[in-house]
Amino acid sequence: MTIRDWSNFIGGRRALVTGAGAGIGRAIAIQMARAGAELWINDLSGERAEEACAEIIAEGGTARPVVADVCEGDSVAAMFETTGPLDILVNNAGSGVRSWADGALLVPFIETDPADWDPVLRVNLAGVLHVTRAYLPAMIERRWGRVLVIVSDAGRRGERRQVVYGAAKAAAMGFARGLAAEVGRDGVTVNCISLGSMKHAGLADAIAADPALETKLARNYPVGRLGRVDDPAPLAVLLCSDAAEWITGQVYPVDGGYAPAL
Ligand SMILES: NC(=O)c1ccc[n+]([C@@H]2O[C@H](COP(=O)([O-])OP(=O)(O)OC[C@H]3O[C@@H](n4cnc5c(N)ncnc54)[C@H](O)[C@@H]3O)[C@@H](O)[C@H]2O)c1
Repeated sequence: MTIRDWSNFIGGRRALVTGAGAGIGRAIAIQMARAGAELWINDLSGERAEEACAEIIAEGGTARPVVADVCEGDSVAAMFETTGPLDILVNNAGSGVRSWADGALLVPFIETDPADWDPVLRVNLAGVLHVTRAYLPAMIERRWGRVLVIVSDAGRRGERRQVVYGAAKAAAMGFARGLAAEVGRDGVTVNCISLGSMKHAGLADAIAADPALETKLARNYPVGRLGRVDDPAPLAVLLCSDAAEWITGQVYPVDGGYAPAL
């Protein structure tokens, strides 16, 4: 039997990563560009999108910015007009815990205000639906596509004080599993990567203010540390490649062993 050569396995593919101006999405986009893909960098912030593109271009990669709000159908339609059909879609834009520093959404459910729910549901669920709805038809038509959704152990396992965010992420996982069943025969795979706590953004600020917090949180992780923004990138590249054509409808933890998949 010939073992296929996957050494350049996303070379020439055209990819969009949403919310790729910062953090996890930016790291995924950079890693995809290094693996040979041509990137579209979506973000709400043009400045952040431009910065991420500049980083990729400085390494010899190909990247273009596209500003759009993934929660708004019109904005997503305009993004599709700009990019045209693509091979790979990474639904990364999302948020929940607005700030560890002020604890904005880190509260028990009974203390949440219904007014806080909608933005969390919109970006983590409706945003995934809008962008996937826009890009999927051309993938089906061309009989090749990869859709990846970045989710959270707050939805896969369940976490106190993050239940609305967890609910939105769990719904996104349900969407991905169902869609995988729907489009598998069309050459399109749909998977999720579920993350644990990353030392990034608000949590990184909170750790800077209180270094003991890192030790306390890292105790829950068999690998002994919190996540880094580039931890999910290698798996994201693999799942969006030709090499992963027989992997679909799955949720893969990248979480230092915090909540093993059964
Ligand atoms: N950071 C963590 O600890 C963690 C843990 C589990 C899961 N996640 C998930 O990983 C993904 C990335 O998180 P991150 O921590 O890198 O986020 P981040 O806040 O560092 O970056 C997100 C980027 O998305 C952009 N964005 C936000 N809303 C958008 C919208 N409506 N349309 C387009 N762009 C938008 C922001 O401008 C920002 O540049 C999210 O889906 C998040 O829920 C993060």
